[in-house]
Amino acid sequence: MTKTVLITGGNTGLGFESARRLKAAGFEVYITSRSEEKGAKAAAQLAVHYLVMDVTDEKSVELAAEQFGKKAAKLDVLINNAGIPGEMRAIKEVDAALMERVFNTNVFGIVRTTQAFLPYLEKAATPIIVNVSSGVGSFSKQTDPKTLESKVISPAYAASKAAVSMLTLQYAKALPNMRVNAVDPGPTNTGGNFKRGAQNPSEGTDAIFKMATLSKDGPTGTFVDRNGILGW
Ligand SMILES: NC(=O)c1ccc[n+]([C@@H]2O[C@H](COP(=O)([O-])OP(=O)(O)OC[C@H]3O[C@@H](n4cnc5c(N)ncnc54)[C@H](OP(=O)(O)O)[C@@H]3O)[C@@H](O)[C@H]2O)c1
Repeated sequence: MTKTVLITGGNTGLGFESARRLKAAGFEVYITSRSEEKGAKAAAQLAVHYLVMDVTDEKSVELAAEQFGKKAAKLDVLINNAGIPGEMRAIKEVDAALMERVFNTNVFGIVRTTQAFLPYLEKAATPIIVNVSSGVGSFSKQTDPKTLESKVISPAYAASKAAVSMLTLQYAKALPNMRVNAVDPGPTNTGGNFKRGAQNPSEGTDAIFKMATLSKDGPTGTFVDRNGILGW
């Protein structure tokens, strides 16, 4: 039976490339985009379905889930990919408004989306959730001076991704019948907000692809990159 995957922020970057790869692997793919125009364009390019959804807007997420339910009976894989870096600021300029904005997309967006799509995931035989976190949010990487991530000072983004990792662990414990994992794509040049990475988008989606295609006895409650297990 064909598996269905929904990818948030699928109109560009890692979400777009994940959609391309999963479609090629035989999935029925739904991308979501906060812009109708960008969503329609990307979906036409990939020959996949699209839904308009802004993860910061409760009503928009509920409407997208409702529309999904009219087209699909179940959701096998949810990829919470949509994310923003927030602008880099001197520490004195880091305020609660910046934190709120970044958390609203990167963390609360995952909660809104997961809550809205859980009823469809529960109908799948092997439900999978992939949360796209970041090595920048890893305590292990941030405290290891040998890593690139330890050089990054971006409190809003780093704290939001650390929260994504803990959310992942909590969902994994609460949903033992699902495979729920966090991934670090690794520094990837996706052209837009994240253009300083050395990897290409295909390399950047290796971990997402691997965790989206797990079998029933695959790991849950882990944090991985394309080379394997990462320290939280
Ligand atoms: N690239 C890297 O080096 C890297 C490394 C580690 C982790 N990550 C993570 O990987 C994920 C994807 O990154 P990327 O490099 O592909 O970034 P990107 O090219 O900037 O794409 C981000 C996607 O998220 C969407 N998005 C942003 N805010 C949204 C909202 N409120 N509602 C719905 N969609 C929203 C964007 O939509 P618009 O096109 O409308 O802006 C876009 O589709 C992010 O979570 C990022 O933190 C990236």
